[in-house]
Amino acid sequence: MRRAKISIIGAGNVGATCAQWAAQKELGDIVIVDIPDKVGVAQGKMLDLACCGPIERFDCNILGTSDYKDIAGSDVVVITAGIPRKPGMSRDDLIETNVKIVKSVSENIREYAPDSIVIVVSNPLDAMVYTAWKATGFPASRIMGQAGALDCARFRTFLAWEIGCSIEDVSALLLGGHGDDMVPLPRCTSVHGIPVTDLLDEATINACVERAKKGGGEVVKLMGTSAWYAPASGAVQMVEAIVKDKKRIIPSAAYLDGQFGHKGLFVGVPAMLGSGGVEKVVEFKLTDSEQKLFDESASHVEELVGVVTKMFPELA
Ligand code: APR
Repeated sequence: MRRAKISIIGAGNVGATCAQWAAQKELGDIVIVDIPDKVGVAQGKMLDLACCGPIERFDCNILGTSDYKDIAGSDVVVITAGIPRKPGMSRDDLIETNVKIVKSVSENIREYAPDSIVIVVSNPLDAMVYTAWKATGFPASRIMGQAGALDCARFRTFLAWEIGCSIEDVSALLLGGHGDDMVPLPRCTSVHGIPVTDLLDEATINACVERAKKGGGEVVKLMGTSAWYAPASGAVQMVEAIVKDKKRIIPSAAYLDGQFGHKGLFVGVPAMLGSGGVEKVVEFKLTDSEQKLFDESASHVEELVGVVTKMFPELA
């Protein structure tokens, strides 16, 4: 059987950590690409990672490069290129610089890995997924953004800490845009099916929602740059679902074609991920208040996309 090939664009904190999680899970061969000025960093990090193989017992080819030709034949490409958030910056402040970067990266993916499935991690996420879709020209099923996997993981962690139980037993679902824009669904959040609303009071659940929403900002405040372990872990969970054709349902920024009342936008929804990329958006009936929050979140994503198309009319 052919090994999967996973390319990661950007050998910074998130990209290198994606490579580490993917290698540890032995998901396939790994190529990491950075700009020519940083090729030494890409090569050095991958040499270092490759030498963990004998200890961690993973066996895959790992390459650091600045040559996009090396991504040829990739099954999945993860885009982490871009500048991270600094204290006081919102994700939206990054927009102009990161659109330029993600646009040029996407054009290279279109040229060198035209059959790949693309997972975008660069922020502001919802705008970057749209940029990658337009700039690759790929069908929407082959473009998605990593947001919900991370936001859900943060939410589950904070709930488990409050309940005092293992994080493994908490399951949760969130919709909408990344971070501040996410839409919590306490009724879809449980401990082995026991509704979380039976285990925690409303104020505590709301505090966990708020902490998950602002989880990225909390990390930025603490260490002066944005997070990398959990964003990379979320992205690699999606890579695994695709390369193993698992049909996992992972909250992801996926293209809506009428589902949940929206069309023509990438927004966080439960997405079935398999070898075809986003194989299905799993739609279910929202309550009136959930729909209202989802609509608000979608309209913020729409505004962000409007900012992108105003700055870069060729992406309209
Ligand atoms: N092609 C390839 N790599 C690029 C390009 C490009 N055109 N432009 C920038 N990069 C690289 C940078 O050289 C750098 O090594 O992207 C890398 C980004 O790494 P970091 O600065 O460490 O940023 P990181 O913390 O990894 O965050 C990257 O992910 O979660 C998001 O908000 C975060 O948008 C940010 C992105």
